[in-house]
Amino acid sequence: MTSKTLKDAGKPVAEDSFAAQLLKGDGGGSETKGQTCLRVVDVSKVFPASGSASEPITALEPTSFDVPEGSITVLLGPSGCGKSTMLRMVAGLTEPTSGFIELEGKRVEGPGADRGMVFQSYTSFPWLTVRQNVEYGLRIGGVDRRMRRSEAEEFLHLVGLTEFADVYPSQLSGGMRQRVALARAMAPGPKILLLDEPYGALDYETRWKMQDLLLEIVDKTGLTALMVTHDIEEALYLADKVAIFKPHPGRLAEVVYPDVGRDEHEGKETLIVSEAFIHWQKHLLAGLRH
Ligand SMILES: Nc1ncnc2c1ncn2[C@@H]1O[C@H](COP(=O)(O)OP(=O)(O)OP(=O)(O)O)[C@@H](O)[C@H]1O
Ligand SMILES: [Mg+2]
Repeated sequence: MTSKTLKDAGKPVAEDSFAAQLLKGDGGGSETKGQTCLRVVDVSKVFPASGSASEPITALEPTSFDVPEGSITVLLGPSGCGKSTMLRMVAGLTEPTSGFIELEGKRVEGPGADRGMVFQSYTSFPWLTVRQNVEYGLRIGGVDRRMRRSEAEEFLHLVGLTEFADVYPSQLSGGMRQRVALARAMAPGPKILLLDEPYGALDYETRWKMQDLLLEIVDKTGLTALMVTHDIEEALYLADKVAIFKPHPGRLAEVVYPDVGRDEHEGKETLIVSEAFIHWQKHLLAGLRH
């Protein structure tokens, strides 16, 4: 995939808007790629014994990895290996039992607008229109009405929802609702997107389109993404870096940089049957099994 310019990205945008900064040049990430966006250092999580659990639950043993700027890093693993727990700690929704997390050198100590979350369940507000949903985070952040409007327009354009700005999420298909969630997460200008099985509830075809959209967005904007999935094909299609987790107790088993040669293929249909892709598929499968 080649980096795109602002011209390719669509209409011109206000010079000082966040969207303008993001879409400026040939994919902001290409220049900064390689620098560390997020650092996870010796982070563990133990849930104390409670009514239903007589013993404390080690959701994650001490885990360290980093997320390079402008990349897609995937946390891959079966159910119960602590993927969501890890993402929730990065989001600041739950505290690590030990260790620490840094985003661009700053300790994570709670939720913040510098991280945009997308979950599997559709998280848009049903009583707000698509546009109002995308504007929501900007409104909370004190962005004035005119700027909110123009920022929301840009992000709706980026996810292909311009024509649906004034409808309610309930009138949209699952894939389109996830587009809203993506635009909403991006609008406040996060440093990183955190995605927890965002396409888990979608059919194969829609999921594919959404995967392509995420690749396109990261390519155009240079945004950094940390995504959770249990799907090997999805991990390989999207990731620059894959952290393989194992359960009982949850732990990081291996970190790989699968070079499947995405740029050498026109699309997913030829990539997923290529030798390199199948090689990595076997590697990840073995990593999950042993
Ligand atoms: N709030 C909580 N209280 C107690 N235990 C929890 C809590 N949240 C998660 N756990 C436990 O921590 C472990 C890891 O859970 P987590 O949801 O992070 O796994 P996961 O890899 O995201 O799984 P899945 O693929 O099913 O979403 C599980 O054993 C789970 O039961
Ligand atoms: Mg989970």
